[in-house]
Amino acid sequence: MGKMSLKPYNDYCPQTLFLYGTYDENGNADFGLFCWFSYTWDGEMGVMCCIGGNKMTKDNIHRNRIFSANLVTEELLPLADYFGNTDGHSEEKMKVALGIEKGRVLDVPVLTASPVNFELEVKQFIELDGGEVMLCKMRNVLQDDSLSDKSKSEAEKLAMIAPVRTTCKRYFGYKGEDLGAWGEPRKVLAEK
Ligand SMILES: Cc1cc2nc3c(=O)[nH]c(=O)nc-3n(C[C@H](O)[C@H](O)[C@H](O)COP(=O)(O)O)c2cc1C
Repeated sequence: MGKMSLKPYNDYCPQTLFLYGTYDENGNADFGLFCWFSYTWDGEMGVMCCIGGNKMTKDNIHRNRIFSANLVTEELLPLADYFGNTDGHSEEKMKVALGIEKGRVLDVPVLTASPVNFELEVKQFIELDGGEVMLCKMRNVLQDDSLSDKSKSEAEKLAMIAPVRTTCKRYFGYKGEDLGAWGEPRKVLAEK
């Protein structure tokens, strides 16, 4: 089998999804969906992520330098898809029923229904041409109690929380099933 050269592109490279939680200047929570997210090592584990263009999440992180990153699961996907396809500058965006609590270490909004939440502080902003990379310290990691159950294997616990992956502009379930194109899962919210 041969190989073909392609322009910059990342299809068939699945990414984990996170909802970034921030507060605006009036203390109202905003959530946006992000996949350009990975980990760093600098004496301790940290996070690197990239935000492209101007968005509410970026405005809020610039002002406060802190945010939460909440793991997206299959259960959360309709809401996550909605947050990823709705501009935070619209007044309507956050008028949805949502369990939100505060971080334990940082003043960031945390999604109760997400089983793993990072409380992050930006240590360095690296401005690019239309995008921005942020290097962050993990100030706290919150995890549902069920994930520390020693009677279950890691595989069982991952299957239980079912994190969603994305590639090829589609969502895939933990076991690989196709969960729809970007913009599709949110449609079930309108039907409720
Ligand atoms: C599957 C998916 C992944 C996304 N990942 C990113 C990302 O990594 N970086 C980014 O800048 N925008 C990303 N977006 C777009 C933002 O979620 C979108 O601009 C959203 O409106 C941001 O929320 P906000 O307007 O409340 O800040 C993604 C959207 C989708 C549907």
